[in-house]
This record gives sequence, C-alpha cells and structure tokens, in this order.
Amino acid sequence: MANRFTNSTGQYGWVSIILHWSMASALVGMYFLGDYMVGLDYYHVWYHRAPAFHKAVGITLGLLLALRIAWNFGQARPVPLDKDRRLRILAKLGHVALYLLMLVIVLSGYLISTAKGQGIDVFGLFFIPALFPDNAARGEIAGQVHGIGNSLFMVMVLLHGAAALLHHFILKDLTLVRMLGVKTGISK
Ligand code: HEM
Ligand code: HEM
Repeated sequence: MANRFTNSTGQYGWVSIILHWSMASALVGMYFLGDYMVGLDYYHVWYHRAPAFHKAVGITLGLLLALRIAWNFGQARPVPLDKDRRLRILAKLGHVALYLLMLVIVLSGYLISTAKGQGIDVFGLFFIPALFPDNAARGEIAGQVHGIGNSLFMVMVLLHGAAALLHHFILKDLTLVRMLGVKTGISK
C-alpha cells in the first residue's frame, strides 16, 4: 500500500475504515432512535427534539454516504478473501444491497420530513429546503418505504455482521481484521 489512507487490492485504508465504522454505529443508533421516537407521547419532552435530531443526523449520514460512494470510485477494491466463488458473489450482492438500502432510507426520510413543505435544519449549520410541492400522500408512502427499508436494512446488517464473524472465527481469514485497520501484509 502506497500510504495508510487509501485502499489497495489487499487492504482497506483509514478513510474507508473510519467511514465504515462511524457510519455503522450512527446508523444502528439512528434505527433505535427512529423506533423510539415514533412511540413518543405528544407531551413528552423529546417529542419535537428527537425527530429534529434524527433528521439532522440523517442528513449528515446522507452526506457521508455520498462522500463514501465518491471515495470508492477513486479507490482500489480490496479483493474478497473467499475461495468459493458463490460466497464472493453473495458478499458483493450484500454490499450493494447495504448501499442501496442506505440510499432508500435517506431519500425516504427526506421525503417524509418535507412532505408538508418544511425544510430541514441541520444542527443550525445549514438548511436543506423542501424541493417538492406539499403532498401528504407522498409523505405517507415515504413513511412506509422508510419503515420497510429500515427493517430490511437491519436484517442485512445482521447477516453482514454474522458473515464477518464467520470469516473471523470459522473460516479464520483476515476479512474482519483488515476492516479493523490492522496491517495484515496482504498485498495483491
Ligand atoms: C440515515 C439513516 C436513518 C435511519 C437508520 C432511520 C431510521 C428510522 C426508523 C427505524 C424510524 C421508525 C420507523 C417506523 O417505525 O415507522 C424512522 C422514522 C423517521 N425518520 Fe428516519 N432514519 C434515517 C434517516 C432519516 C432521515 C435522513 C430523515 C429525514 C431527513 C428521517 C426522518 C424520519 C422521520 C420524519 C421519521 C418519523 C416517521 C413517522 O412518523 O412515521 N430519517 N427512522
Ligand atoms: C450499519 C452497519 C453496517 C453497514 C451499513 C456496513 C456496510 C459495509 C459495506 C458497504 C462494506 C463494503 C466495503 C465498503 O464499501 O465500505 C462493508 C465491509 C465490511 N464490513 Fe460492514 N457494515 C456494517 C456493519 C458491520 C459490522 C457490525 C461488522 C462486523 C461485525 C462489519 C464488518 C465488515 C467487514 C469485515 C467488511 C469487509 C468485507 C470484505 O473485505 O469483503 N460491518 N460493510
């Protein structure tokens, strides 16, 4: 690897690693926050605060996702360590599904939040306007897509995490280790 920031065909660099783990923890946190906030009573102190925070973090995650996709385009892809071709295809499909679901969740979240013409304040730093005309029905559909997208996403995350642990403990390869930033010496 030329440096420790960019990927090589053998290793993940620090930019990909930091994006992976910071987004993974924020996304899981957002799932539980979303689930919690839709059950809040109107008089609860978090009734307004939780959605405002959820939306601001959600937009931030959307921007990080765009950055991550753009970063991937300019990078080498670490080659999968599976020997079985079917497992390699499965892993690839799993990664693509995770990206697509992240995209669907962010876009549907935006469409729920802006369905009544309101924009989104992102931590008082900048403001994302509502781009489309008010439409409560579109908001309803976006809400359903957001809910279903999130459930599918969590199933995929669990399968993905289980696959990583399978690699580490059963197949005993360096798949997980190289996503943790440990220099493995795999060079291809
Ligand atoms: C980025 C990752 C995100 C995750 C993991 C996530 C997760 C969730 C979950 C689990 C719910 C509860 C769904 C339900 O039980 O019906 C929810 C609701 C909601 N989310 Fe997100 N969300 C994300 C991004 C966003 C974004 C970017 C926005 C807006 C800009 C947003 C706006 C909302 C709103 C307004 C609700 C309430 C929906 C309702 O009242 O039916 N979310 N979210
Ligand atoms: C919300 C949670 C997560 C998401 C969205 C996610 C997403 C991804 C994506 C898209 C990749 C492909 C590489 C890239 O483009 O960055 C990847 C790779 C990886 N992830 Fe995750 N991940 C999550 C959680 C986890 C967890 C909990 C683990 C471990 C238990 C894990 C372990 C790995 C490993 C080891 C790789 C490298 C796979 C390889 O080299 O083929 N991820 N992840």
